[in-house]
Amino acid sequence: VPTRLNVGDWTEVLVGDELPPVLPERPDRERVAILTQPGARDLAEQVAQVVGVPSDFRVLPDRDEAKTAEVLSATWEWLAGIGLGRADTIVGVGGGAVTDVAGFAAATWMRGIEVVHVPTTLLAAVDASIGGKTGINVAGKNLVGAFWHPTRVSVDVSCFRSLPAPVLREGFAEALKTAYLGDRDLQDLLVAHGIDAPLREVVERSIGVKAAVVGADEREAHGRMVLNYGHTVGHAIERVHALSHGDAVAIGMVAAAAVSARRTGFDATPEHRATLAGLGLPTEFAGIDRDRVRDLIGLDKKRSGAGVRMALLADYQRPVVEVVDPSDLEAALDAITP
Ligand SMILES: NC(=O)c1ccc[n+]([C@@H]2O[C@H](COP(=O)([O-])OP(=O)(O)OC[C@H]3O[C@@H](n4cnc5c(N)ncnc54)[C@H](O)[C@@H]3O)[C@@H](O)[C@H]2O)c1
Ligand SMILES: [Zn+2]
Repeated sequence: VPTRLNVGDWTEVLVGDELPPVLPERPDRERVAILTQPGARDLAEQVAQVVGVPSDFRVLPDRDEAKTAEVLSATWEWLAGIGLGRADTIVGVGGGAVTDVAGFAAATWMRGIEVVHVPTTLLAAVDASIGGKTGINVAGKNLVGAFWHPTRVSVDVSCFRSLPAPVLREGFAEALKTAYLGDRDLQDLLVAHGIDAPLREVVERSIGVKAAVVGADEREAHGRMVLNYGHTVGHAIERVHALSHGDAVAIGMVAAAAVSARRTGFDATPEHRATLAGLGLPTEFAGIDRDRVRDLIGLDKKRSGAGVRMALLADYQRPVVEVVDPSDLEAALDAITP
C-alpha cells in the first residue's frame, strides 16, 4: 500500500515499493504526453501501460542536455502535433532534469496544464519533483522557469536499484540535508546505515521535511531559504571545479557547519564529515580557487561590510538564516581544504 503525503494543497505524493497510481481522477482528460530520458525509458513505457488513457511518448536528451530552450521549443511543437489539450496532462518520468522540463512545459503550454511526476532518481524523488520549482538553463543554471506544482508525484522506490552509484549518492546528500533541517530519526537512520538505509523510509521522511518547509512558504520568501543549507559554498565550487551537484553539496554542508560553529556556537563539523564519509560522499576538495569562489558568492575581501545570507544550524533540526561576512567564508574554505 503506498504512503500518502501532501505538499500544501497542491500536490499529493504517493510512495510505494512498486509504482503507485500515476494519474489523479479527472473525467475530462483525453490523453497524456509522457516526457522521459534515456535512463528512465523502460519506466516510462511501464507508465504508458498503466495510465489508462491514450499517451504519446518523447525521450529527451540525457541529463541537463534536456534543459535548453531548443529542447523546450521542440517539445512545444511536439505537443501541438499530438494535439495535447487544456484538460490533458504532461507526465515527467525521469530524474530532476526531466521533471524540471516537464514542469516548465506544463506551466507554459496553453498558459498552464496539469503536470504529474514519476521521479526515477533518488534526488528527483526527495528534491526536484517536490516544491513546484521548474526551469531550464539559459546562460546560467535554472535562469528561466516558473513555479508550477504537480498535482501528483508517484514514487516507485524499487526503480532506484538501477541507479549508478554516483547518481544514488547525490540523492543521499540531499536526504541528509533534509534530515539535518528537520528529521532526527532520518539523521540517525543515515548515520547508522549509510547508503544501505531503507530507501522507502529515506524517501518518505525527506519528502516530509521538504513538504513542510515548502507548504509554509511557497515562493521561498524566507522559510524556503533553509533548504539552501550546504548550497552557498556548494553551488560555487560546483561551478568553479565542475563537481557533481551532490558532491558539491556534501562539501558545502561541511563549510556551512564550520560557519554555524562561528555564528551560532553549534559545531557539527566532525559529525558532518563522519556521516558524509559513511555515505561515500566527499567532505573536502584540494586546490579550491578561492578568488573565483569568493567572487561567485559575492564575498570578496574588498567588499567588506557587504554580507551574504546563508542557511546555518543552531542545533540539529534548528536551521537559521544569518548574514555572514568574508571572515566566515574564509573559515568555511579552511574547513574544506585538506
Ligand atoms: N526543481 C527543483 O527544485 C530541483 C531541485 C534539485 C535539482 N533539480 C535539477 O535536477 C537535475 C538533476 O537531476 P538528477 O540528479 O535527478 O538527474 P538527471 O535527471 O540529470 O539524471 C541522471 C542520470 O540518471 C539516469 N537515470 C534516471 N533514472 C534512472 C534509473 N531509474 N535507473 C538508471 N538510470 C537512471 C538518467 O538517464 C541520467 O543519465 C538538475 O538539472 C537540477 O537542476 C531541480
Ligand atoms: Zn541541491
